[in-house]
Parts: sequence; C-alpha cells; structure tokens
Amino acid sequence: MADSKGPVIGPVLGIESSCDETGVAVYQPGRGLLAHALYSQIALHAEYGGVVPELASRDHVRKLLPLLRQTLADAGLAVPDLSAVAYTAGPGLIGALLVGASVARSLAWALEVPAIGVHHMEGHLLAPLLEEPAPGIEPLAPPFVALLVSGGHSLLVGVDRIGSYTILGDTLDDAAGEAFDKTAKLMGLPYPGGPALAKLAETGDPKAYRFSRPMTDRPGLDFSFSGLKTQVLMAWRDSNRNDFTRANIARGFEEAIVETLAIKCRRALAQTGYKRLVVSGGVGANKRLRAQLVEAGQREGFRTYFPRLAFCTDNGAMIALAGSIRLAAGQTTGPEIRVQPRWDLQTLPEVA
Ligand code: KG4
Ligand code: ZN
Repeated sequence: MADSKGPVIGPVLGIESSCDETGVAVYQPGRGLLAHALYSQIALHAEYGGVVPELASRDHVRKLLPLLRQTLADAGLAVPDLSAVAYTAGPGLIGALLVGASVARSLAWALEVPAIGVHHMEGHLLAPLLEEPAPGIEPLAPPFVALLVSGGHSLLVGVDRIGSYTILGDTLDDAAGEAFDKTAKLMGLPYPGGPALAKLAETGDPKAYRFSRPMTDRPGLDFSFSGLKTQVLMAWRDSNRNDFTRANIARGFEEAIVETLAIKCRRALAQTGYKRLVVSGGVGANKRLRAQLVEAGQREGFRTYFPRLAFCTDNGAMIALAGSIRLAAGQTTGPEIRVQPRWDLQTLPEVA
C-alpha cells in the first residue's frame, strides 16, 4: 500500500464533518487504523425528518474536540505525535465542512505539520483498504469499478489508478440512499429510513409487489430512482396500509433498487473489462445488495470488496486513510481554510 515505497509516515489524524456524523480517526501507513470514534447526529435531526444544516454545523462544533481527545487517548497518542491532519474538504454542507476544516487546519498550523483536504467520495471509494484482505484473497488494487451509493450520491466510478477517476454513471434525480429515505418516510417509517426500510423488508414477501428496475431496459450506466418512489407511493396509497403490506412493499422496493444497482455494476464491469468491484457509502451497508453482488461475482468471475458495515456510512477512518495516501504522494493542501460544497471527483490529481 501507500507505505511500501515512500518515506516512513507517522500517525495521520482524519476528521469527517461533511454532513450529520462527526468522525475522527488516526491511521498510520504500515500500522493501520490506530483508533476511531464517531458521533452521529441522527437523534438531533430525527424530529425534522432530515438533516438541518445549521444544527449540523453547531453540533460538529460541540462534538469535534471531545471526540478528538478521545480518539488520541484510545490510540495512546498525544497531539504532538501527529504527523499530518486530513479533513473532508468537500463535497458536503458548507457550514459543517468549515467546522472540520477550521479545526484541522488550525491544528496542523500549530503543530507545523501538513494538512490534507480530502474528497469525501474518495474516502468512501478507498474505505475497503482499511480492511485486512482475507487469507488467500488478492488485496484490492486498481483498476476497479466503484459503486458509491449514499444519501447524496449514486456514482459508478472507473478507477484506473488511485486519483484517476472516471464517472461512468450518475443519478439523474434522487440518490439511492435518498430514495430509501423518502420511500421509508412516505410509509411512515422513522428517520433515517434506509436502515429501517431494509429491516422491515426482511419480513416481507418478495413476490407480493414487483416494481420496475429503472433504466435497465436501455444501454447506459445512469440511474433514476424518483419514479420508483412514486410507484411505491401509489401502491401504498391503494393498499390496506397494514403492517404486512408495509413489509411487502418495503421488500418489493428493496428488491427493485438492489437489482437495478447490481445490473448496472455488472454492466460497468463488462464495459471496462475490470474484474474488481468496490461497493461503499451508506447503502453499501445493505445486506441484500452485498449478498447479491458477492453471488453475481462468484457466477461471473469478479470480486466485490466492501468496507466493514460501520465504515460504509460516514466516518473519520476513511478520511485518515485517504489523507495518508495523498500525503505519501506529497500532495498536501495550502494554508487557507477552504472547502468545496460541490467538487467533481474527476478533477482530483492522480497519485503517482
Ligand atoms: O454515506 P452516508 O452515511 O452519508 C452520506 O454521505 O450521504 O449514507 C447515508 C445513507 C442514508 O440515505 C441511509 O438511509 C442509507 O445510507 N443507508 C442504507 C442502509 N444503511 C444506511 N440504505 C439501505 N440499506 C441500509 N442498510
Ligand atoms: Zn458519505
């Protein structure tokens, strides 16, 4: 990995604050993840049914420094032991990003160590590298296809080398996680809807409802999930709306979205000729999606790599890892506190 050639790198702090999770971690190339801690704001936003940006920023302010102290203590380190500070510089909520960037940049300045502004989606994309490869399994390395499915993104990315990314497919409307969340909400499930809907779907009958697999009947790798949400709305409205029906509809919806994602992944692998697939982002925690892709890989000769469940959703570990890879390549960020709420993954520099 990143430590195999370059200079020895000390512990790198990673700070994630792009949305509603405050994540802090310490990663050291060659030693791996030394500690990580996460504070989720889910309870704070639940009564509003979605993330309230101003509340998110204020809560990051409250939680970041205590979390940082806890993480360093867990790693058995003191602040001066850090050799660099990585932080999510975008994309995300501007106020939330600025909290992480300000703390990270100030700390790096005080310690006179480099700071590295990390692209949040590159963090998700590299997160499987936090896992030890199982015995006999070849470690993940480019080239590969990455399916990045979260509350804000549904991307299929071609990865030639680390840092060299081509967007092969994107969503035309809702992101996959957003579709889960909105569909759950319209059937009265609690926020955040994705995990709640997936849990309910386990008890549903897969044959009771069949929804369409959007945009799979024509070539291309883009997604569209908003029509699926409307189909569910109509099915729910026209039903007896009892608990069995809710579970059956949840199952039908999950089957549709999972199969659609799996079809597009297989298509992207066929198009690129790559034999490795990364699945990451919050929806990557979906058990049915994971099982279906592993099975398809066994049948069709590709291998799927996931982060552990806790690192599918937002976390500091993936930012510390991505930051240390950039640091090893000599790619650090200037002294200004700058964030990018919108940021095209394809504009990142290649890691040599
Ligand atoms: O990556 P993430 O933590 O935050 C963003 O960057 O958006 O992803 C959160 C999204 C939410 O939409 C949530 O409902 C969804 O991931 N999610 C799931 C599951 N766990 C989280 N969706 C389907 N099945 C799950 N098990
Ligand atoms: Zn994310």
